[in-house]
Amino acid sequence: MNKEVTRVLFVCLGNICRSPLAEGAFQMHVKARGLETEIQTDSAGTSGYHVGEAPDKRSQAVAAKHGVDISGQRSRQFIAEDLTDFHYVIAMDQANLDDIHQLKTAALHASTSLMLSELAEGPREVPDPYYGGTQGFDLVWSMVDDACAALLDRIVRER
Ligand code: 4NP
Repeated sequence: MNKEVTRVLFVCLGNICRSPLAEGAFQMHVKARGLETEIQTDSAGTSGYHVGEAPDKRSQAVAAKHGVDISGQRSRQFIAEDLTDFHYVIAMDQANLDDIHQLKTAALHASTSLMLSELAEGPREVPDPYYGGTQGFDLVWSMVDDACAALLDRIVRER
């Protein structure tokens, strides 16, 4: 490990459902490996719809079920500077990644990728659970939990 601190940002549309769960799951894996001082995280939304709000209650509930407290997170909007402030910017779906790339210039060199591209198989996008039932949030957790474990393996390799 040679970088002092690696910064990882998770991005979805509203920053109240998927990316807060991804950040919570990732932090869980970071803590389990004792890497809290080496790896820092945040999350953001490509929209400003929910700025300042806590994660959706259904996201808070599924995280709590897995022993993770995400209630202190607050939604903020993704900005171009995030592409210099973070080493890894991880999008939940292709629309999020396209919006991120709209702001990307040659000078802004964060690595940008899809969350589920960390996994060799299965769907490529984390489905938006906002308008569905609680089972959609369980599905999001299981997807981001697996992908975050793989992402952390990759980051540790690349540091
Ligand atoms: P997220 O879910 O992008 O996973 O936070 C959504 C939350 C809110 C809305 C859409 C998606 N919305 O349209 O308000």
